[in-house]
Amino acid sequence: MRRSQPHPQPLPMLEEGRGGQKKISIMGARAIRLFLTSSDLYIVLFEAIPPPHAWGGGRRWGLNMRTVEWHDNKVRMIDQRLLPWEFTRVDYDDYHAVAAAITDMVVRGAPAIGAAAAFGLALAAHQSTAADRPALLRDLESAASTLKQARPTAVNLAWAVDRLMRVLDDTSLERIDAIRAALLHEAQTLADEDVAINKRMGAFGAALIRDGDTILHHCNTGALATVDWGTALGVVRSAYEQGKKIHVLLDETRPRLQGARLSAWELKQLGIPFDVIADNAAGHFMRTGQVNIVLVGSDRTAANGDVANKIGTYKLGVVARENGIPFYPVVPTSTIDLSLKNGDEIPIEERDPAEVRAPYGLPICPDDYPVRNPAFDVTPHRYVTGIVTENGIAYPPFDVNLRRAVEDTLVNR
Ligand code: MRU
Repeated sequence: MRRSQPHPQPLPMLEEGRGGQKKISIMGARAIRLFLTSSDLYIVLFEAIPPPHAWGGGRRWGLNMRTVEWHDNKVRMIDQRLLPWEFTRVDYDDYHAVAAAITDMVVRGAPAIGAAAAFGLALAAHQSTAADRPALLRDLESAASTLKQARPTAVNLAWAVDRLMRVLDDTSLERIDAIRAALLHEAQTLADEDVAINKRMGAFGAALIRDGDTILHHCNTGALATVDWGTALGVVRSAYEQGKKIHVLLDETRPRLQGARLSAWELKQLGIPFDVIADNAAGHFMRTGQVNIVLVGSDRTAANGDVANKIGTYKLGVVARENGIPFYPVVPTSTIDLSLKNGDEIPIEERDPAEVRAPYGLPICPDDYPVRNPAFDVTPHRYVTGIVTENGIAYPPFDVNLRRAVEDTLVNR
């Protein structure tokens, strides 16, 4: 089942596009794909996307890609709806548009959504024409409410907005420009911390991976789902960088196909061997002894260790338990919601039925067929082997150890 994959070749650099967007220079790729469909061409087109080291200038933490960032008084993000066919970055100068970009999944993944909302609030402060502190605070309350409503399940969104709003508790911040600067500084700090947290989770989680392991993974939890590096895929990346020979089975993850489109795109460029599998093939691979460990992310984890994540995660947990395979969510403490006793209290987003009827515009059933489209499910904690956090790995009893992880007191650091 192991296959070696070639490392990516040197690739075209970014060029400035119109309308404040950057696009790679080989933008004929999508059109070409319609006419030529050999698998060789697919590989060529995948490799036409610039690798992470070409995604932007040198940045903090020694990494080079930011899924979302502040650029020239705007919020800049990679348009994840277009990947892997187009690499486009979009600049937003209106926080309403940032909220819409979160809803429409231009940016997605719990930590990335949190960072986008934080920069969105800093943008709201820049946009505001308020003449004094009370008027600016009113504008920011309204922006915070708009941003928080963009998507319901990922708690990082509200967590990030609340963190920025706490900056306003400092009543010595009187002048408008001082408030703007303080909010932007906090958003930038939050984004930088996200990368550092992911690398710490990567280091803890990599200790669970043995040389030769095959890892089953769901959705996209990589650099694109965070500011950089990733959560569960960050663990994969850390293990690979330690020199471990690993292979990854990527659930395609219907209906938005984050696994087939985004996780595969990331692993391809990192040179990490993988196979994309249909979601319903995961049980087959687990039952036939072809999976050593399951790694997933989370959008909200309750105090008792129940884990909400991309729809389809629950059955991975059940089948992993049935087959004696360890199941580890990789969860920054910003995703742990201690205010919720258990997973039944986690709001589950229901998305547009069109995502199921016609994924990416390709109709697979008539428009009038009734459809249900929950975007997340909850895996009860009894199926969870351990939860990797930036403060160590929490094991049962989760109601005790997750709290300790949030309070930064886990001992196995
Ligand atoms: O609907 P999405 O693509 O935002 O869902 C993303 C996931 O479910 C990820 O697994 C999750 O955010 C956790 S890892 C960053």
